[in-house]
Amino acid sequence: MRVGIIGYGSMGKMLLWKFSEAGNIGKQDLLVSNRTVSKLEEAKDIAKVVSSKELASSSDIVFVCVRPVDLKAVLEEIRDSINPEALLVSLNGSVSFETIRKVIDIKTAKVIPSLTAEIGRSQTLVCFDDRVSDKAALKGLLSCIGDVIELPENEMGMGSELVSCMPGFIASIFDVICKSAEGHTSIPKEQIVQMVLRTMSATGDLMLRKDMSFEDVVTRVATKGGITEEGTKVVYEGFPKTADLLFEKTLEKRRLTTEKAENSF
Ligand SMILES: NC(=O)c1ccc[n+]([C@@H]2O[C@H](COP(=O)([O-])OP(=O)(O)OC[C@H]3O[C@@H](n4cnc5c(N)ncnc54)[C@H](OP(=O)(O)O)[C@@H]3O)[C@@H](O)[C@H]2O)c1
Repeated sequence: MRVGIIGYGSMGKMLLWKFSEAGNIGKQDLLVSNRTVSKLEEAKDIAKVVSSKELASSSDIVFVCVRPVDLKAVLEEIRDSINPEALLVSLNGSVSFETIRKVIDIKTAKVIPSLTAEIGRSQTLVCFDDRVSDKAALKGLLSCIGDVIELPENEMGMGSELVSCMPGFIASIFDVICKSAEGHTSIPKEQIVQMVLRTMSATGDLMLRKDMSFEDVVTRVATKGGITEEGTKVVYEGFPKTADLLFEKTLEKRRLTTEKAENSF
């Protein structure tokens, strides 16, 4: 199987190196192109540097890893040369299959990886248009960066909030907690962060390994009338409004971004 990656930015670079490291695709079967060709110098040892047209004509899976504003131009560029049997994979969640089809009418999938792909623990979202019958090849390829979750196209937005945006939400929530803790202790800031971070990570692993729910953890730690319960009460009373607002704001922003991306076609 030949895999091509158009766009060597944050996502394209990550995928290219992860596919290469996984060891299933040799240099001859891994192709890459980028607008600024000089950036590809570092990739020459693991992939063939080619034009986007050449890549599209000779790949079985063509990943398009460019920003929404550049997507139409890339699709137009490869439209006439793309292998008609290829699977086109857009890394952009905003542009619909219907809109992509206006430029290239070919089997298409959308893929949203999360930052945790860096350590092989992505929760990668994937959705396929109704012409894709062989889903296994793409899912198998993506398994080298973590778990693969298939969703219907209309759930890719909220799905992205839950796995792709979530590292940012989690980091900001615990940043606020650590900054607040600083005002109540002489423990150095760096040590606070390490203590909270490792507890956070271990709590997640504990829940996964022991199949515990959030409520299970709260019940185990927050004994009736105890100290932890005082804190969890504050969270359950005050935080739901913030969580609702977070999703209202991000989903509205997603709607506007989608509208802008669709209008650019
Ligand atoms: N970053 C994330 O965490 C993340 C997560 C999930 C999904 N996504 C999605 O993935 C897509 C790519 O995001 P990114 O963060 O990787 O963007 P990025 O870092 O800005 O990279 C985009 C790359 O596309 C290249 N490019 C632009 N136009 C091109 C063209 N006509 N031909 C060939 N290459 C072209 C750019 O080349 P130059 O070197 O010339 O600029 C750049 O290397 C976006 O749709 C984004 O929404 C991102």
